[in-house]
Amino acid sequence: MSIKVSYRLIKEELIQVDDCIKQHLSSTAHPAALPILSYLLQSPGKRIRPALILLLYKALTQGKTVTEAQHQHLIYFASAIELIHLASLVHDDIIDEADIRRSRPSIQAKWGVGSAVSLGVYLYSVALTLIAKVENLDILTLISLAVKSMSEGELIQLKERHNLNLNTSDYLAILQRKTGALFKAACLGSGHLAQGSTSLLGKLEKFAYHLGLLFQLTDDYLDMMDSHAHLTKKLGQDLAKGQITLPLIMLYTTLSAKDSQTLQAILVQGNTLGIQWIQDKIRQHKVHIQCKTYIAKEQEQAFTLLHDILVTSKYQEAVCQLLQYVAERILD
Ligand code: FPP
Ligand code: MG
Repeated sequence: MSIKVSYRLIKEELIQVDDCIKQHLSSTAHPAALPILSYLLQSPGKRIRPALILLLYKALTQGKTVTEAQHQHLIYFASAIELIHLASLVHDDIIDEADIRRSRPSIQAKWGVGSAVSLGVYLYSVALTLIAKVENLDILTLISLAVKSMSEGELIQLKERHNLNLNTSDYLAILQRKTGALFKAACLGSGHLAQGSTSLLGKLEKFAYHLGLLFQLTDDYLDMMDSHAHLTKKLGQDLAKGQITLPLIMLYTTLSAKDSQTLQAILVQGNTLGIQWIQDKIRQHKVHIQCKTYIAKEQEQAFTLLHDILVTSKYQEAVCQLLQYVAERILD
């Protein structure tokens, strides 16, 4: 499934989002920031969050009149969410000491931690100027709560590094914060801008919950098991940092006492030397199948909710394709 199929319907709006991001990042930037901003803009990423916002909005406002001002607010909002996502990745790569992002040296690897910290805050502050232009306190509140949750998610994750006794529900609570929160803001923001009812917003929140989990669960699975070179970053980054993810949680509960000790020893090494051993054990105990089943259930729940939220339309179909694209990355 190509992501491009979903994007055809919102081609023009995505260009407007790109232009908005470029213009607001660079037009008033100090010359000192330009090389780093130009490097960042060369690699735009998949724009999943803006695409989701635009598709949901279009689905929810079909047959209604959308004024020029409302449309502009939507573009500002989608651009702001993407900028916050970018800022969080720049900071995440500092936290994870990750050298590669989007198949190129990360900002912190190329410019150092100081520049990466400053750039992350810069991106976040530009996002806030865009949110100000939306002139909607509900949207501002959504964004603020999302960033609070994301930061909490990172803090909890740091605290739980190397803790193989982390259970699935605590792990999911981390994912919900660090990844789900921004998806929630994206979906709810789109619903707010489309003037959706309280009941619709409640359903969108549930949908975003499963979508966020689906996204991060596949990301974590690929980090450990990628076999089709989907990753545009290094394999085993979570393992190297002692990050506990679903494959490890599920594996740990099935291992013998001796193998559990080996796993613990691999985890404290702080590198990826033991990844082959872990992958073999995961396959031997069929944990990869358990993980995929778990992820497929999240996808199914997101699909079901989506069909309840949106009437059948090309936009609904496109959001389904987006979900499929996210989940299909883990198929072997
Ligand atoms: C990627 O996790 C990171 C996140 C989903 C969120 C990071 C959030 C923060 C650093 C706090 C918020 C900060 C700002 C500036 C808004 P990952 O390491 O599992 O994913 P990866 O494999 O792509 O690195
Ligand atoms: Mg990371």
